[in-house]
Amino acid sequence: MSKIQSPKGVSEYFPPRSQNFEFVRNCMMIAAKNAGYSMMELPVFEDTELFVRGVGESTDVVSKEMYTFEDRGGRSITLRPEGTAGVMRSVIEHNLDKGQLPVKVWYSGPFFRAERPQAGRYRQFYQVGIEAIGADDPEIDAEVIAVAYRAFKAIGLTNFRLDLTSLGDADSRARHRVDLVAFIKTLALDDATLERAAINPLRLFDDKREEVRQMMSAAPLLIDYLNLASATHFEKVQSLLRAFDIPFTVNPRMVRGLDYYTGTTFEFVHEGLGAQSGIGGGGRYDGLMADLGGANLSGIGFGLGIDRVLLAAEAEGLLSDESPRDTLDVFLIAMDQSTKEAVALLANSLRNIGVSADMAYGDRALKGAMKAADKSGARFSVVIGEDEMSSGAVKLKNMDSGESVSITLSDLNAWKGVLLH
Ligand code: HAM
Repeated sequence: MSKIQSPKGVSEYFPPRSQNFEFVRNCMMIAAKNAGYSMMELPVFEDTELFVRGVGESTDVVSKEMYTFEDRGGRSITLRPEGTAGVMRSVIEHNLDKGQLPVKVWYSGPFFRAERPQAGRYRQFYQVGIEAIGADDPEIDAEVIAVAYRAFKAIGLTNFRLDLTSLGDADSRARHRVDLVAFIKTLALDDATLERAAINPLRLFDDKREEVRQMMSAAPLLIDYLNLASATHFEKVQSLLRAFDIPFTVNPRMVRGLDYYTGTTFEFVHEGLGAQSGIGGGGRYDGLMADLGGANLSGIGFGLGIDRVLLAAEAEGLLSDESPRDTLDVFLIAMDQSTKEAVALLANSLRNIGVSADMAYGDRALKGAMKAADKSGARFSVVIGEDEMSSGAVKLKNMDSGESVSITLSDLNAWKGVLLH
C-alpha cells in the first residue's frame, strides 16, 4: 500500500527533537506565568467573521492565507491564523473584562496560515502568546516585551534584536493618514496595491517589491505624527526598557502583518534564520475589543513562534538532537522472561510513588537491553534475574559513574531514597 504523507508545509516534532521543542515552549510558558499571566485554552476554529473584523481585510493573513470552510451547519469557519482575536472574543463572551483589570492571559498551540512553505514558514505552526487587557500604563508595554525577552534569554539566545516603534493613538494615526494618502496619490501604483492602500495605507511600507520600497522611502512616517500623549507614552516605554537592560532599536518603518495594532509595536528578529527571521512580535491593539463588540478597553500582547525559536536555538548551537532532556530516574531490565512480570510490577509501583521508570521490552539479549538503558538517558539502571528474585537484593547502577548501590527489592522507600535524590 502507498504511504500517506503529512499535508504540505506543516511542522511536526517527534523524538528526540520534540524534547527540544518542549523545552523551548516551556521556557516561554514559564516566563509568562512568572509575570502573573493565567492559562487560556481556546478553540482552534472560530467564526470567520472574527478574523475578518479582528485581523483586518487589508492583511495577507485574511485576504490570502486563511483556512476557511463551511461546516455541516452551513457556517463559515476558519482555522485560527493567530491568537489575539480569539482571546478577545472569549474575554468579551465570558465577561472577564468585568472583573479585575488588567486581564492577563497566556496561551499556546497551533495556528494556521496558508502561506508558501519554506524554512521557518509553515502552514501549521506553533505560538506561545500573552495578552494583557484593560491597562493603559506604559509599564505594561515594557512588561510584555520583558516577558518575551526573558523567555529568549532563558533558552540561551543571544543573536537577536528587538525592533520597536509606535503607531500612536487614533488622533495621531488620523493626521498621518491624511498626509500618507495624499503622498500615495502621487505614486504610480497598480489597482490591487491601491485597493490595499485604501483599506490600510500603512501596508505599503510592507510591500516587498523593490520599486514600491523605493517610492515609499520618501513617505511620511507615522512616528513623526505622534501627538503629545502618544509620544510621552512611547518615551516612557523606551526609558523603562533601558532601565530593564533590554536593548532595542526604534524602527519607524516596521509594519506588523495584522491590522489591529496601535501605539507600541515590536518585533524580535533573529540574525541566524535567513528570510523568516521574526521569532516573535506584538504590540498594543487599543480599539480591537470595541471593534469586536466589547467594552472600549485597551490591550497589548505578543505571539512568539515556537518553531522559529527552536530553529534559532539550534542555529546558535544551544540544543542538540542527540541529548534527550527528560531524564528517566531508572531503567529496569528483566534478565529472563521469568522475571519480566516482576519487573513490570516493580516499574508500576515505582511510577505510583513518583519515580520515572521505563523497562526493556521484547526478548532481546542483555546487551541490547543495556543499550536501550543507555539510550533512554536514565540516571540509574537495574538488571533483575532469578538470582535477584531469590536473594531479594538488587544493584542499582549509576549510569554516569558506573557505581552500584545495593538495595532491597521490596523496599520501595529505599528505591525512592536513591532515585528521587
Ligand atoms: P505574528 O507576528 O503574526 O503576530 O506572529 C507571531 C510569530 O509567530 C511570528 O513572529 C513568527 O515567529 C510566528 N509565525 C507567524 N507565522 C508563521 C508561519 N507561517 N510559520 C512559522 N511561524 C510563524 C501574531 O500572531 C499576533 N497575534 C501577536 C500578538 C499577540 N499581538 C498582540 N498580541
